[in-house]
Amino acid sequence: MPLVDLGAYAEDFNADPYPFYAALRSAGPVHRVMLGGDRSWLVVGHEEARQALNHPGLSKDWLGAELFGNTPASAAASNMLEADPPHHTRLRGLVAREFTPRRIEALRPRVQEVTDELLDAMAAAPDRRADLIAALAVPLPMTVICELLGVPDLDRARFRYWSGEIVAPLDPAGTDGRVLEQMTAYLYELVEAKAKTPGEDLLSALIRTRDEDGDQLSPEELIGMAFLLLVAGHETTVNLIGNGIRALLDHPDQLAALRADPDGLI
Ligand code: HEM
Repeated sequence: MPLVDLGAYAEDFNADPYPFYAALRSAGPVHRVMLGGDRSWLVVGHEEARQALNHPGLSKDWLGAELFGNTPASAAASNMLEADPPHHTRLRGLVAREFTPRRIEALRPRVQEVTDELLDAMAAAPDRRADLIAALAVPLPMTVICELLGVPDLDRARFRYWSGEIVAPLDPAGTDGRVLEQMTAYLYELVEAKAKTPGEDLLSALIRTRDEDGDQLSPEELIGMAFLLLVAGHETTVNLIGNGIRALLDHPDQLAALRADPDGLI
């Protein structure tokens, strides 16, 4: 099977990958690709993707598999995104006891309040110009995740810096290992502090939670979960806001329809 070097189209691919995916789909459902120096498989057919995702022979535990000669760098690396059943099933079962739709729904007024504050600050900018990503898309999920985890106000500047470095490192070579170490050390202390003095936050609830057999998350697993929330909930939401607004600006008819009936889409 020929190797498709996606890196060769990096700029065009990043700007708009869909024509590339369409061309690959018309050539076949499975391709051998090269991206960022790594060789991997890219599955673009729906049925084939379902089969691959459900196949017990394929693993998400790439650190455990030691495929790349890696061992987990820290507790943070051990989380649900990199776990297979039955380990994944156990973690998911414990986390699902506390990370419930009801808890998320309860965040709604606070998310609205933070959004209103950020939008008011944007509207108050002296020249009425603002950078959507810096003014809204990054701080909104960051604030919500800090509140979910119960990161105290005083620590948030440091926490934001580490998160930014981990999710989108300034150095293109990748995250500085020290940042990961500092963040992991901070999360250990946070878990210890919350074990002693629990709050209303999700992390305190996850520390407390036990299943019917008395099983509970270990400190390492709690850190892995805190880390997962950070990575899973941060960059995804930044991109959702950025790409969503861009799509609306590119489709003024859709923007007008949304403005005329803001609740119509929900
Ligand atoms: C537009 C926003 C989001 C998108 C597109 C998105 C997408 C995804 C995808 C594709 C996965 C599966 C990854 C895999 O199995 O390899 C995933 C997993 C996960 N996401 Fe999100 N996500 C978003 C927002 C969030 C937020 C806001 C949170 C939490 C605050 C979150 C928490 C999680 C967790 C905990 C998992 C792991 C679930 C498991 O393994 O059972 N995500 N997300």
